[in-house]
Amino acid sequence: MNITLRVWRQSGKKDKGRMVSYDVEDVSGDMSFLEVLDVLNERLTLTGEDPIAFDHDCREGICGACGVVINGVAHGPQGGVTTCQLHMRSFADGDVIDVEPWRAEPFPVIKDLIVDRDAFDRIIQSGGYISVSTGAAPDAHAMPIPKTDSDHAFDAAMCIGCGACVAACPNGSAALFVGAKITHLGDLPQGQPERDSRALSMSHQHDAEGFGGCTQIGECTAVCPKDIQLDVISRFHEDVLGALWRGEGLR
Ligand code: SF4
Ligand code: FES
Repeated sequence: MNITLRVWRQSGKKDKGRMVSYDVEDVSGDMSFLEVLDVLNERLTLTGEDPIAFDHDCREGICGACGVVINGVAHGPQGGVTTCQLHMRSFADGDVIDVEPWRAEPFPVIKDLIVDRDAFDRIIQSGGYISVSTGAAPDAHAMPIPKTDSDHAFDAAMCIGCGACVAACPNGSAALFVGAKITHLGDLPQGQPERDSRALSMSHQHDAEGFGGCTQIGECTAVCPKDIQLDVISRFHEDVLGALWRGEGLR
């Protein structure tokens, strides 16, 4: 099939940016979306033009690096997949496809489709960990954990930190991301000692980075490639309120 990509080009933080159209021919339905960008970039390089900057690493839905907005939807039209897992069979011959970076103030554009997601790293640094003594692995049955708890923690731990939830949210909230981290650690016994301080610190850092508040619109979970559910946001708020009730101070 032949398609037209309308791609956001922005040389740096100070550039205002603009959409630029590129025709791409002989696209196979089996190609991934990133492979189409690769093909286009080869052509741009051969003709001496600046290739389109886009982020990627694993190309198998694990690292969370590759997200872009495709036709107005974070990670594109398929649902439940990252941009690198999206295949061109989701499009038709003659389609004009808009490709833009995440739009959120805490994720400034570095170049073209690449945004700076360091704000997420700083939220994790503020509390997304447990403190344990290193050494030999404990015996498997030393700390029994109910299956329902481990399953729920695992579901939340699927979050890959891609940022699609922020890009889709009209408030630019990262509540789904923070909720996933708080839930996956707080569901397990190992996460209990720092549960209160974690909730307060991560909430404080979330707001300090400029992410908006959650008003339960649900756009985040609709675009999440890992199907993180809204209940993690309830857990986030529950843990913050619990910590305040128990009198933990902000770090
Ligand atoms: S909650 Fe989903 S959309 Fe948000 S960062 Fe995690 S994986 Fe990405
Ligand atoms: S490149 Fe790693 S999730 Fe897409």
